[in-house]
Amino acid sequence: MDKIAQVLHSLEKRADYEKENFTKIHHDKKMLAITRDTGIFYNTLLKIQKPKKILEIGTSFGYSTLWFASAIGKKSKIITVEKNLKKIKFAKKNFQKAGVSDMIEIKEGIAKDILIQLGKSKRTKESFDFIFIDADKEVYPFYFDICLPMLKKGGIIAADNIIFPRKFKKHIKKYLEHINEIKDIQSITIPIGNGQEISFKK
Ligand SMILES: C[S@@+](CC[C@H](N)C(=O)[O-])C[C@H]1O[C@@H](n2cnc3c(N)ncnc32)[C@H](O)[C@@H]1O
Repeated sequence: MDKIAQVLHSLEKRADYEKENFTKIHHDKKMLAITRDTGIFYNTLLKIQKPKKILEIGTSFGYSTLWFASAIGKKSKIITVEKNLKKIKFAKKNFQKAGVSDMIEIKEGIAKDILIQLGKSKRTKESFDFIFIDADKEVYPFYFDICLPMLKKGGIIAADNIIFPRKFKKHIKKYLEHINEIKDIQSITIPIGNGQEISFKK
């Protein structure tokens, strides 16, 4: 097993434990990660797409980030955004253990503020090939709008938790209605893991 696969495997064991003991675990220590089949799905998609730059909103312990890193070339870069400092510490350790720290930049802070800054930079205009939204569900429409100008034509904005958990239904409905009104994107819900929305920029 390579180093990334080893770290993914240990995080999957932790995810199983989290599922069984959900109410007992402190919020700061919850990974709330994508499922393994979701990881495999994005890993396959990215192997085909061969992105040079990825942006992720919601790092947690870095489980999804590691699936992305294992699909892309060593010269490709991932920027991932997280507000919880304890989770950032775990994620950094996981990236080191997996040998991918050089490919990943963690931006610490509130995603809205970080994305507003990124959006102002000329360097980020139409620069990302793949953007993954997996943070606070009520902010998904804002994340989509601010990310779209940073996405290259032919790029993808993907979002998790489109089907589960049901408690997010109201926010997700708003997100889907919002993106359905935007021209020049083609969107589809894929029932893998907690449900993925894949939006392709024409
Ligand atoms: C569902 S988890 C991400 C899981 C991760 N993508 C994975 O699959 O391994 C969501 C993460 O987003 C972070 N988050 C939530 N709201 C945020 C915000 N406004 N700014 C930055 N991070 C945020 C949480 O602290 C949490 O770690």
